[in-house]
Amino acid sequence: MSNKITAAITSVAGYVPEDKLTNFDLEKMVDTNDEWIRTRTGVEERRILKGDGLATSDMVVPAVRSLCEKRGISPEDIDCLIVGTVTPDMVFPSTANIACDKLGAKNAWGFDLAAACSGFLYSLTVGASLIESGRYKKVVVCGADKMSAIVDYQDRATCIIFGDGAGAVLLEPNTDGYGVLDSILRSDGSGANYLHMKAGGSKKPASVETVMAREHFAYQEGQAVFKFAVKGMADVSAELLEKNNLTGDDIAWLVPHQANLRIIDATANRMGLTKEKVMINIQKYGNTTAGTIPLCLWEWEDKLKKGDNVVLSAFGGGFTWGATLIKWGY
Ligand code: UT7
Repeated sequence: MSNKITAAITSVAGYVPEDKLTNFDLEKMVDTNDEWIRTRTGVEERRILKGDGLATSDMVVPAVRSLCEKRGISPEDIDCLIVGTVTPDMVFPSTANIACDKLGAKNAWGFDLAAACSGFLYSLTVGASLIESGRYKKVVVCGADKMSAIVDYQDRATCIIFGDGAGAVLLEPNTDGYGVLDSILRSDGSGANYLHMKAGGSKKPASVETVMAREHFAYQEGQAVFKFAVKGMADVSAELLEKNNLTGDDIAWLVPHQANLRIIDATANRMGLTKEKVMINIQKYGNTTAGTIPLCLWEWEDKLKKGDNVVLSAFGGGFTWGATLIKWGY
């Protein structure tokens, strides 16, 4: 068709830990109840990565291993691994670096990308650019977070939404117009006031005081974030449709970040989409931050058809937000 190289998704995989944390478990930990959590957020249970020394890379590795098996390639064939995460194994080296070693991805380079809940969308745009440049043939883009490592299980306003998980896609060059077609990505650093981790960075290094003050956990002003998220995610998704001369009728699937069912509904309404076209698994996994979108793609893989127009959409800490249009390639 055309000679233009696009980055097609050629394989999808995911990993969620076995251990479940249900709303009823949380009722025993904080002053909350299943009814409140379900009606205000849509979450019923989340997965938690348990085990000494287990980290985000331990979810990336099985996801990428499965991705390679499904595509019939070896980890040695990977050129680059990008891990969208805000819960890296360590501040440095990068989780991508550690995961490549565990995978035996000897020919890959890689890096982590911190854009919170938009981590997968940002990483996908970067990964797609590496393919579009013609320089790389196999780029793996992963969204992975072990949120249980930074969630305060004494704070009922935040501990109810987050969970652990990882998803990954393989990007390969395509000249038939499949893959990542367009993206609108945004950021607003003033949003840091509403969603951040107070200590542990260079601004406020870890100390006895920061630990005592519980400053190594995610801090969120939920209501403020909610207001920005509803508007930001819906606006950018509608803008992406308009920019590409599409309407809701042209879209086969919306793949929204799973932060709150009410934010997802607002975005779908704004795009003129019925519920049947929206991927929702928030009830099972909660908000896995960078993991949500690839985990949905993984779960819905069987239902996706070659040529489907798919919109991915996210809003999260930073603030960071955006929407990406994909033509499904298999
Ligand atoms: O993914 C990254 C970006 N993050 C988001 O997109 C999250 C956006 N925010 C949200 O999803 C929602 O703001 C939350 C789910 C975090 C909170 O829901 P909300 O409807 O905004 O609740 P709220 O903070 O306005 O609190 C309403 C009431 C308060 O009680 P009063 O002051 O009305 O008496 C809270 O204390 O609900 C209370 N509350 C709870 N009650 C039972 C807060 N958390 C809980 C709880 N169980 N877990």
